[in-house]
Amino acid sequence: MISVAIDGPSGAGKSSVAKKAAELFGLVYVDTGAIYRTIGLAAFNRGMNTKDADVIIPFLPELDIDMRYNENGEQRMFLFGEDVSSRIRTPEISMCASNVSAIPEVREYLMDMQRNMAKKYDVIMDGRDIGTVILPNADLKIFLTASPEARADRRYKELIQKGNNVTLDAVLEDMKKRDAQDSGRKTAPLAAAADAVYLDTSDMTLEESVSAVCRLISEKTGKKLK
Ligand code: DC
Repeated sequence: MISVAIDGPSGAGKSSVAKKAAELFGLVYVDTGAIYRTIGLAAFNRGMNTKDADVIIPFLPELDIDMRYNENGEQRMFLFGEDVSSRIRTPEISMCASNVSAIPEVREYLMDMQRNMAKKYDVIMDGRDIGTVILPNADLKIFLTASPEARADRRYKELIQKGNNVTLDAVLEDMKKRDAQDSGRKTAPLAAAADAVYLDTSDMTLEESVSAVCRLISEKTGKKLK
């Protein structure tokens, strides 16, 4: 089995790059942030304080979360049987996801789901702790990053395109807050693995980032483009 881990802060382009590389190499793309987002949404829907571990932990066994792939190979998230893949993408739910992800029991609860994917399939998995915690023996680990301004700009354009009503300043503020929380938490904080390849995409186009990642995948895994 081949596994590629891509970690980095929000908006660094992890999902766009990983999705494209997965397609080019015939790997399964696993977006782990989407799973945390689904738990964040579930708690938000119930009006819970997503920072309150005493409320979130007893809620976990009640949850019915499913990750499925459609005919186009796209990962879709289901909550109690309903496809919530679009609803988990709002700035509000981003923060809820970051909040619940700081709770160690939530991370533990999702550990097997993520590792099982890498046992069954050749994967390219993105997140915050994939190279450090989830797949410490990954064939290739990449830490993908970019300046906060470049990341906020990309996220802003993405949100506007999807019809969200946001300002660039608000996106930058939200992102800095979420980065600080994801990097500062005690359990599995956002961090580069010691053996990760560091890639700064601030001045790179998506195509250039994809090329750089594909080159690394070929070198490290010996896998050829499909
Ligand atoms: O990648 P994303 O922005 O969709 O992730 C949403 C949140 O989930 C992020 O702020 C932190 C958390 N997360 C995490 O803690 N560990 C992961 N492997 C992936 C995401």
